[in-house]
Amino acid sequence: MRVPDYPSVDSKKWSDVDGYFSRLLAPEDDLLKLALDENAKAGMPAHDVSASQGKMLALFIAMTGASRVLEIGTLGGYSTIWVARALPEGGRLTTIEANERHAAVARSNIERAGLFDRVDLHVGAALDVLPNIEREIDTPFDLIFIDADKPNNPNYLEWSLKLSRPGTVIIADNVVRGGAVADPDSEDANVRGVRAFLSMVAKNPRLDATAIQTVGEKGWDGFALIRVK
Ligand code: DHB
Ligand code: MG
Repeated sequence: MRVPDYPSVDSKKWSDVDGYFSRLLAPEDDLLKLALDENAKAGMPAHDVSASQGKMLALFIAMTGASRVLEIGTLGGYSTIWVARALPEGGRLTTIEANERHAAVARSNIERAGLFDRVDLHVGAALDVLPNIEREIDTPFDLIFIDADKPNNPNYLEWSLKLSRPGTVIIADNVVRGGAVADPDSEDANVRGVRAFLSMVAKNPRLDATAIQTVGEKGWDGFALIRVK
């Protein structure tokens, strides 16, 4: 019998390790926990980033010195809280949520966390709202987090390029989707959106990128990390 040189899939262990890491390195305070409780009460899908991923976003902001951040896909504001807390003095986070009910919960979560003074929450489909944001901003974004409807990822990449400068970091969530991303014949609109997005990234000479698959309490997924040259 061939003995595998890797452990069998054990999603309970993925969650245990995530819990261990986040308790040590990315502990959630009551405001973050309450945000997740409120999201669940409102019947939202648990598509928030994990605590460790929230901390990763916060570290990217600190490491790049980003002070103007764009988030496409607020959901209930859990990642928004991690990001807004990581901003330097005077920093601002622009975040867009298409679903009005989700946006209302997000607003209350962000307000309760005392962060609404540094967050601009736009309610509406991102493709409708982004032209207004383009008119409003006077400096490009330093960091952009794409975490919304995946079929529109190619459009969000185009908008990110319009709203960025050399050195802007773009992070896209959910580029693995339980491994489905590797299937070129997938008919899943989310997978197709992610694949079209990644091939645009690969072809664009202005961009440099990698993608990292992850396991954890959110299952098997991953993120793309992109830098505008
Ligand atoms: C989905 C979307 C997300 O942003 C996420 O983190 C997980 C899943 C989804 O649409 O299936
Ligand atoms: Mg996501």
